[in-house]
Amino acid sequence: MNTELEQVTHIDNIRLGGDETSVVVLDQTQLPNRTVYRTLREAEEMYDAIRLLRVRGAPAIGICAAYSIYALARQWDILDYGPFAEKFRAAKSYLNSSRPTAVNLSWALNRMEKVVDANPQKSMPEILDLLGRECRAIHEEDIAMCRAISEHGLGLIRDGDGILTHCNAGPLATSRYGTALGPLFLGRERGMRFRVFSDETRPLLQGARLTSYELQRAGIDVTLICDNMASIVMKNGWVQACFVGCDRVAANGDTANKIGTSSVAILAKHYGIPFYVLGPTSTIDLSCPDGDHIPIELRSPDEIREMWYAEPMALPEVKCYNPAFDVTDHTLISGIVTEKGICRAPYTESLSALFR
Ligand code: MRU
Repeated sequence: MNTELEQVTHIDNIRLGGDETSVVVLDQTQLPNRTVYRTLREAEEMYDAIRLLRVRGAPAIGICAAYSIYALARQWDILDYGPFAEKFRAAKSYLNSSRPTAVNLSWALNRMEKVVDANPQKSMPEILDLLGRECRAIHEEDIAMCRAISEHGLGLIRDGDGILTHCNAGPLATSRYGTALGPLFLGRERGMRFRVFSDETRPLLQGARLTSYELQRAGIDVTLICDNMASIVMKNGWVQACFVGCDRVAANGDTANKIGTSSVAILAKHYGIPFYVLGPTSTIDLSCPDGDHIPIELRSPDEIREMWYAEPMALPEVKCYNPAFDVTDHTLISGIVTEKGICRAPYTESLSALFR
């Protein structure tokens, strides 16, 4: 196997610290210029790591939260179940409030809470042991899901194709391979060649900082474009498919992903290019009927006005609107690629069939 490619697809982005009372994360805000690992011990550090996008990407924040609540629980000097469960729920709700849109966060924390709820008769060491197993299982399952998504996605494209992607849904955002980028890494492993266009993804530049970094290092032909260049690239005939990740898929197939994703989908429809959403079933929220019910995170105006610039690019008093995600209407989506296979319209049926 190509070792540089393997270094990218098997990056160690989230793990437990040695004594399992901390979590070690690769700080994505420092990439591509610096590789910095941070050790998170306090609940506030864990919350901030997610809130400030040091760890980001829907599956990655779920994994980070699961490891975090386990690491915190191991620090507590509590012997009785009642006070332990109470403290656990408070920590869960605090971590869960760090970001609202990606359902993987609450999905992972709910799984951890169920372990506590289901075992009131067990001793504290036994409960801690079960929690440790659960957070590791969440991580290991994500590795397997990403691999399966990559296989299914690879079946949708051909050697030599041009692929456009938005934001970052690669190994950094998940665990190994990624979702939207997974088929490209897997294809590369098998000797296939793709030409990838990576939207820079304003305002936080995940496409520039992370996607083009991952693809370039893996030896995949990547061209970085500003978000407003997607149309010309499509019009030139350089894009045969769009692959994007997802933060929450509603029961009818409406999908929240990084702000700007819906514009890509609208353009793709105009140019007759298939638009695929790739994500694990942990990102599907059947309790959410449609996109209007997905909470959209609003972030600081400074991310638009001054972040990344040597000096502010707008007057400080200028009003800004900074939604971190938008919803792509299900009618614009050609398929939703999960680890269990590819869902097609009508999504209300194909998505619910995944959970039967
Ligand atoms: O704000 P971010 O960087 O966490 O947004 C991430 C995305 O929109 C990703 O596309 C999504 O989480 C899928 S990651 C496999």
